Amino acid sequence: ISNERVQIRPPIVAIMGHVDHGKTSLLDYIRLTKIASQEAGGITQHIGAYHIEVRKKIITFLDTPGHAAFTAMRSRGAQITDIVVLVVASDDGVKPQTIEAIQHAQAASVPILVAINKIDKPNSEPEKVKNELIKYNILPEEWGGDNIFVNISAKTGEGIDNLLKSILLQSEMLELKTTISGMATGLVIESFLDKGKGPIATILIQEGTLKKGDIVLCGLEYGKIRAIKNSLGKEVQFASPSIPVEILGLSGIPIAGDKVVVVGDEKKAKEVSIYRQMK
Ligand code: GTP
Ligand code: NA
Ligand code: MG
Repeated sequence: ISNERVQIRPPIVAIMGHVDHGKTSLLDYIRLTKIASQEAGGITQHIGAYHIEVRKKIITFLDTPGHAAFTAMRSRGAQITDIVVLVVASDDGVKPQTIEAIQHAQAASVPILVAINKIDKPNSEPEKVKNELIKYNILPEEWGGDNIFVNISAKTGEGIDNLLKSILLQSEMLELKTTISGMATGLVIESFLDKGKGPIATILIQEGTLKKGDIVLCGLEYGKIRAIKNSLGKEVQFASPSIPVEILGLSGIPIAGDKVVVVGDEKKAKEVSIYRQMK
């Protein structure tokens, strides 16, 4: 196809790890230092996914990859994450949910970047964490493995620039590509019903460009897109691959992992939707 424009796309990164190992703190630190500082007045996070710009490159973080959502998407064959950042608290070590996260990532063949957190604590033992991870086949390069390890503190911010740099490095190795022309396809990451605005879905476009006014089919739901909002809640006219957006205008609430496709006309979208609902 002559007018297809293949280009590099930003990585989609899920933060995973055991309870209280610091996933939210890490995301908050990154968000506060990398987003709020760029926006007058420090805008509050609007949706469960956001993107930042580091060194003129974009990284998209999924804020809600609770294990349940991740599993649900995976079991439906929806692969969205390019990189898993495995957060392991260096004062607590490898725990059941750490192992679960490793298994999810390995089953999906998603590269794991290890963020050894809480290194500000006096009882921190980062080397012990490295040793514990060996039996799960997670090894740093200097030990012959291919996992990147970064020591961080989500409290002081130490090592976080290094972590972001490593994510960009890992992403370059993956050579993530997409086409920005043509009708958009993507995935629903979360959805809810807003009393005033109706069904709202957070989606990630994977191919093509989604435009306001496009008619989409989204699992059992469909509709003409009335508004597209970015992760800061600002209305935009279109959505390109890997940048999370919220869409308004759907007939109902789709489910995480539903595929989003643009279709030619609303009548056809409705027909498919009805057909799917009968099944
Ligand atoms: P769940 O979402 O419940 O699984 O936890 P989480 O992984 O999101 O951990 P959270 O960010 O809620 O952090 C748990 C606790 O650890 C909080 O009290 C944080 O303040 C603390 N914490 C997180 N990161 C660090 C760190 O780098 N250093 C120190 N000292 N405390 C931290
Ligand atoms: Na917590
Ligand atoms: Mg949390």
